[in-house]
Amino acid sequence: LNKWPTTTLAKTLGIKIPIVQAPMAGGATTPELVAAVSNAGGLGSLAAGYLNPDDIRKNIFKIRQLTDKPFAVNLFVSEEHQATKIQIKQMCHIIEKACVELKVQIEPIEPPYAPEFDEQLKVILEEKISIFSFTFGMPSQTWLKKFKKNKTLLLGTATTLKEAQQLQEQGIDIIIGQGSEAGGHRGTFIGSTEDALINISVLVPQLAKYINVPIVAAGGIMDANGIIAAMHLGAAGVQMGTAFLSCPESGIHPKYKEALLNAKQDNTVLTRAFSGKLARGINNKFIKRMQIHEKHILDYPIQNALTRTMRKIAEKNNCIDFMALWAGQAAHLSKAIPAAELIKKLHKNVVAQLDQML
Ligand SMILES: Cc1cc2nc3c(=O)[nH]c(=O)nc-3n(C[C@H](O)[C@H](O)[C@H](O)COP(=O)(O)O)c2cc1C
Repeated sequence: LNKWPTTTLAKTLGIKIPIVQAPMAGGATTPELVAAVSNAGGLGSLAAGYLNPDDIRKNIFKIRQLTDKPFAVNLFVSEEHQATKIQIKQMCHIIEKACVELKVQIEPIEPPYAPEFDEQLKVILEEKISIFSFTFGMPSQTWLKKFKKNKTLLLGTATTLKEAQQLQEQGIDIIIGQGSEAGGHRGTFIGSTEDALINISVLVPQLAKYINVPIVAAGGIMDANGIIAAMHLGAAGVQMGTAFLSCPESGIHPKYKEALLNAKQDNTVLTRAFSGKLARGINNKFIKRMQIHEKHILDYPIQNALTRTMRKIAEKNNCIDFMALWAGQAAHLSKAIPAAELIKKLHKNVVAQLDQML
């Protein structure tokens, strides 16, 4: 640990400080945020899960204008989903009622409900992205082979040892162990998501013991204490999401930033209401009102597509009651400081604390 920040993970990724800024879909990870983190010696990550191929290319182009340092691009692995026209209509009605104050009309939508995964993968390959991270599963062997041929480093997300073993077997280079504290969507892809809610103090030591590739800990890490704790558990590095949401470079709505800065210790909950997939965020009116409709919530990404209009109008109206306020369990430690300053401060404080320990 006293070698921090010069770890093998940092060397493998070609960065100075083994801190990964988590990819955060929904607008947070602007090219400015990604580049600021990479320029400061960490690893910036562009969340491209919700972006169409053209927008992914545009973002990559912009990041490359802002930094010549390594950065990652992240995608959501696509999964089976289905809903009947009747179920969709019923959910439109439920959502309309759950955000009645917005007076919005929710229209049924036709597939595709999310950008084509293969088309997104093609961009990563063609742009010769050096670090590709993913969650919700694993791309097919055919794609993995293409990335290996391109010398792309692959980072997969696991919420259990079983998932990590599967990622390792398929040749994934680095595994992100996502604890139950984490903000945003659960990356679980084997078994029930509820059974895979393991906090990092339990998950990371298991992964470090049985997995041979480096483990990056994610979930509730906001400061030097969190980083040192994760390293003691056996992590080679950390991935921090919520900590970067309130940076000026992050693209989230100002009211969402305000909610993070005002967050209390017990503010976050797990919900499927916004997207159909279990995710952690700050509790609000929409989540509470949707609790009685849990049985009717549709598969990801159909539910996500159906709540989009509501979320957009909520942003326009500065109304946090109907925005998805994804955040981890340590959101109350949020600070509004520039990303480079945050990295610098984390670096300084980790080194100072390690020195004291020696
Ligand atoms: C707003 C938000 C959006 C997220 N979007 C993604 C994403 O697009 N891809 C991904 O792999 N993880 C995503 N995550 C999860 C992060 O990778 C990571 O697991 C999490 O931020 C760690 O917990 P923390 O927020 O407490 O630091 C997101 C997290 C948040 C808070």
